[in-house]
Amino acid sequence: MNLIIDKLAGVEGWETAASRIASDKGVAIILGAPDSGKTTFARFLVDWLTKKQLSVAMVDADMGQSTLGPPTTIGMNVFKSAPHWLEDIPCRSLHFVGSTSPEKHFISTIVGVKKMTESALGCGAEITLVDTSGLVYGNAGRLLKSQKIDIIKPNHIVAIQESDEIEHLLLPYIKQNTIKIHRLMTSEDTKTKPKDQRRSYREIKFQEYFRKSMRHRFVLGDIGILGSFLGSGRKLSANDLIFLSKTLDANAVHAEIGFEEVLIIVKGGYSKEGIVKLKKHFLDREIIINELDDFKFLITGLNDEKNNTLGIGIIEEIEMPAGIITVITPLHDIEMVRMLHFGSIKLNLSGREINNKQ
Ligand SMILES: Nc1ncnc2c1ncn2[C@@H]1O[C@H](COP(=O)(O)OP(=O)(O)OP(=O)(O)O)[C@@H](O)[C@H]1O
Ligand SMILES: [Mg+2]
Repeated sequence: MNLIIDKLAGVEGWETAASRIASDKGVAIILGAPDSGKTTFARFLVDWLTKKQLSVAMVDADMGQSTLGPPTTIGMNVFKSAPHWLEDIPCRSLHFVGSTSPEKHFISTIVGVKKMTESALGCGAEITLVDTSGLVYGNAGRLLKSQKIDIIKPNHIVAIQESDEIEHLLLPYIKQNTIKIHRLMTSEDTKTKPKDQRRSYREIKFQEYFRKSMRHRFVLGDIGILGSFLGSGRKLSANDLIFLSKTLDANAVHAEIGFEEVLIIVKGGYSKEGIVKLKKHFLDREIIINELDDFKFLITGLNDEKNNTLGIGIIEEIEMPAGIITVITPLHDIEMVRMLHFGSIKLNLSGREINNKQ
């Protein structure tokens, strides 16, 4: 049953929405439940608007079913003509989020959408289209979408619905004169993508991205690390490692102390019994213990000195105590990498996600 849309009689056709967006220009965010047709409409808009000689940016804020850039990133490109959507489309800017879903990564997702929208503007885009994920329900969906709207300040919201399923996201903005709302109906031809199909789509995208990869070695002391306690504390000495190894009945290969926590990296297992003693020894700091293997196959962003993402990689190995991080990546400009941003999913070398429940 169509509760609200009929009442408001506000449903537009695709061309009407496109021409209203074309006349206003600016930023349009596309919202809808999973498989409602957001990406299909975004592609239609790029094709339609570029035919009108407009320069159109697409910000792909869906880190799972990515169109631009590999999964785990928000990609941006500016189009002056319609691209071949079935081919791999290059990305002008990337923002690594670190997961294939925005859940638990809201801040990074919102920051990424803002950075990519700004980058689109910097590249001269007259219209920027923001394609989003299907996370629209519950507190999480409301929070994510409202914060995105708040930060990018779109002048258009395109809502694609079967009925009134995302009216809860629109109603707060209805009285605002600055945002035009375009309601579109989900096509009856829309197909739903089951979980395993979504996963294999990601796997293909990862495979394409990592096809021509090489190994590169980064020295821990020379590079900034984000997304991990590693590299954020003062390195403990070889004598400290002997003490830690004895206390944990382990082979402690690296340790760092910070204001609130102590990070200990062990090779192989360890005994939990020693943790209480360590907590006392380190004046009640939190004791974080990682096994070296915890880092193996972790996805990582390769960022420049301004923390802009240049590419992504897979951590093949961290050698300790030498502090060498080996990363597999297709990125060429390795000398520009100043930061590694550790993500939260693991990939094997053929692009398959390991132990990722999403
Ligand atoms: N108007 C349409 N006509 C025919 N097929 C469509 C139409 N809109 C969408 N589809 C098909 O339905 C499927 C889902 O569409 P699409 O991927 O655009 O949805 P989405 O909202 O972007 O999904 P997601 O939540 O995964 O991002 C795709 O296979 C697409 O080809
Ligand atoms: Mg989509």
